[in-house]
Amino acid sequence: AVAAPGRPPGLDFTPVRPNSEDAVVVPEGYQQQVVIRWGDPILPGAPEFDFDDQTPEAQERQFGYNNDFCALLPLGDDRRLMVNNHEYTSEEFLFRGYDPENPTEQQVRVAWAAHGLSVVVLETGDGAPKPVLDPLNRRITLNTPFELRGPAAGSELLRTPADPTGTRSFGTMNNCSGGVTPWGTILSGEENIHFYFANADSITDPATKERLARYGIKGAASERKWERFDSRWDLAKQVNEPNRFGWIIELDPHDPESTPVKHTALGRFKHEGANIRVADDGRVVAYMGDDEKFEYVYRFVSDRRMKPGRSKHARRHNMSLLDSGTLYVAKFTGDSPDEIDGSGKLPADGEFDGSGEWIPLAHNDTSFVPGMTAEEVYVFTRLAADKVGATKMDRPEDVQPHPKTGRVYAALTNNSDRGATGKAPADEPNPRNGNKYGQVLELDDDPASTRFAWRLLLVCGDPNDPATYFAGFDKSQVSPIACPDNVAFDSHGNLWITTDSSEALGANDGLYAVPLEGPERGHVMQFLSVPRGAEACGPIIEDDLIMVSAQHPGEVDGANADNPVSHWPDGGTSQPRPSVVAVWR
Ligand code: FEO
Ligand code: CA
Ligand code: CA
Ligand code: CA
Repeated sequence: AVAAPGRPPGLDFTPVRPNSEDAVVVPEGYQQQVVIRWGDPILPGAPEFDFDDQTPEAQERQFGYNNDFCALLPLGDDRRLMVNNHEYTSEEFLFRGYDPENPTEQQVRVAWAAHGLSVVVLETGDGAPKPVLDPLNRRITLNTPFELRGPAAGSELLRTPADPTGTRSFGTMNNCSGGVTPWGTILSGEENIHFYFANADSITDPATKERLARYGIKGAASERKWERFDSRWDLAKQVNEPNRFGWIIELDPHDPESTPVKHTALGRFKHEGANIRVADDGRVVAYMGDDEKFEYVYRFVSDRRMKPGRSKHARRHNMSLLDSGTLYVAKFTGDSPDEIDGSGKLPADGEFDGSGEWIPLAHNDTSFVPGMTAEEVYVFTRLAADKVGATKMDRPEDVQPHPKTGRVYAALTNNSDRGATGKAPADEPNPRNGNKYGQVLELDDDPASTRFAWRLLLVCGDPNDPATYFAGFDKSQVSPIACPDNVAFDSHGNLWITTDSSEALGANDGLYAVPLEGPERGHVMQFLSVPRGAEACGPIIEDDLIMVSAQHPGEVDGANADNPVSHWPDGGTSQPRPSVVAVWR
C-alpha cells in the first residue's frame, strides 16, 4: 500500500483530537453507524426494546448489556457472524428508581439474561453491516449450560449441589475480552467475578478463606443481592460456585446447539481474554492476562498439534487442544534495575527492557508448585503464581500475538497502587509509581523456549509529560493516550489499541493506531473517540471496515437512569445504550 505523504501505511487519516463529546467522533472523510444496541431483538419472538418494560424473557432474546469483546467471522455470501461479550450490568443504569438495597426478582432475572454473549448474523454490503434474524443467532446467558473440561474438571473443588459431578456449570459472566481461534471458535475471559458472591464473611475454614480473599471475594451481602433469589450466589449455603467462574470459555458460534466449554487447563483468575498463536510445530499457544493490580501474565502451550482445515473432524480435534498442555506464568527481569526510581525516567540504555522466563505451574495432572496439587494450581492459579515468584504487573489486559511477526503485545492498563506503602515498587516493566496511564509491552516469544526478551513499546500519558515514552518517536507528533486495554492488528501490521479510563487525561476513551516497524514506530494516532462515560473496546480492524464497542456510555459518577448524562446513541432525552459502531470511509 502507498501511504499519503507524512502518513504511515494503512493510517491515512487525520487524528481525532481528545474531546468530551456525547458522540462517536471519527476522522474527516469517514462514515459511522450503530450496528446493534443493547436490547435490539436478535432471536425470533423478541419484542422491540422498551426501557420501561424490561423482562427476562425479552432480554434473553435481545442483544445483552455492556458489549465488550467483538469478533467478526466469515460466513460467505455477504454475511458475517458477529460474537459479542456482555460483560456486566450496572442496575442503576438499567432501571429507573433502582433501589440497590431491594432489587426485585424481575430486575435480578433481567440482569442474569443481560450477561453472557450474543451471536448475531450480519448482512454486509454498502455501509454498515446489518443484523438479521438467522438460525445461527444465539444468546448465552447466566443460565446456559457449560461443560467444564480439562485437568480440573470433576474436581471436588468444582462440585456444587446443582452439579455433583463438577463437570457442568451454569452460565458465564464478566466476559471481558476474548479472541478468535485459528479453528474458528471464540475464546472469552471471565474477569471480575468477585462482585457477585455473598457471605464470604461466614466462611471459617482458613484455606477456603485465603482462597476467596485472594480472588477478592469478601464481605456479607453482595452488591447485586442475587443471593436472595438463587442460593448459588450465597457462600454460606455452598462454597464452590465461585470456582466455576474465572475461566476462559470457548464457544463454537457456527453450531447454535453446541455446549460451550470452560477450559480449566488455562487456569482460573480474572481473565481479560486469551489469544492463540500456532507454533511452528503446530502446537497452539494461548497468551493471557489477569486484569487486576499486581497480577500476572500467563502462557499455555498445548500438548497436541492443530489440524488444518475447517472440517467437522478438524474442528472437533482443535476444540480439544486447550484441554491438555502446560500452563506458565511470566517473570520479567529488567537490564537497568538500578536506574528505576518510579518516576518513569528512561534508563541510560534508552529503553525499559530486559529478559524474561516462563515458569511452569502445571502440566495436566502434574503440579510444579510446591505444596499444591495440580487441581489446586488450576482452580487457585493466583496462589500458585504467588509461590513461584512471578512478576506483579500493572493490570495485564489483552495479551496478543502479532499475526505476522509473532511478537506478543500486552496492554498494562494502569496501577494507582504501584509503589504504595506495602505494595511492590516500580520495576523496569512497570516503571512508574502511582501509574495512572499504563504502558504497552512487547515480547519476543518463541513457543519452543521458556526464555523471552521484552521491551516497553509505549509508556502512555500526555506526551508533554516527561514520564511518557513512544518508542523513541517525536512526542510532539503523537496523540495523548491513557489506559490501554484491548489490542488488534491491521493488514499493514500496525497495532490498534482501545482505551478504558481516558478521563485520567480529561477526555473520552478511544481507538488509536501505532506503527510497529520503521521510522514511524511509536507514532500513536487517535482514530476515534467514544461517547461520554463509555469505554472503547473489542475493536475489529479490517481494510474497509472498523468496528468498535462503546461499552457503558454515560457511566460517570453520580449518573444513573434517573439522571442520565449521555443520550447516545438514540439522542433526545433517551437513556444511553451500550452499542457496536461501524466506521468506514
Ligand atoms: Fe474488563 Fe480488564 O477490562
Ligand atoms: Ca533497560
Ligand atoms: Ca477490558
Ligand atoms: Ca479495562
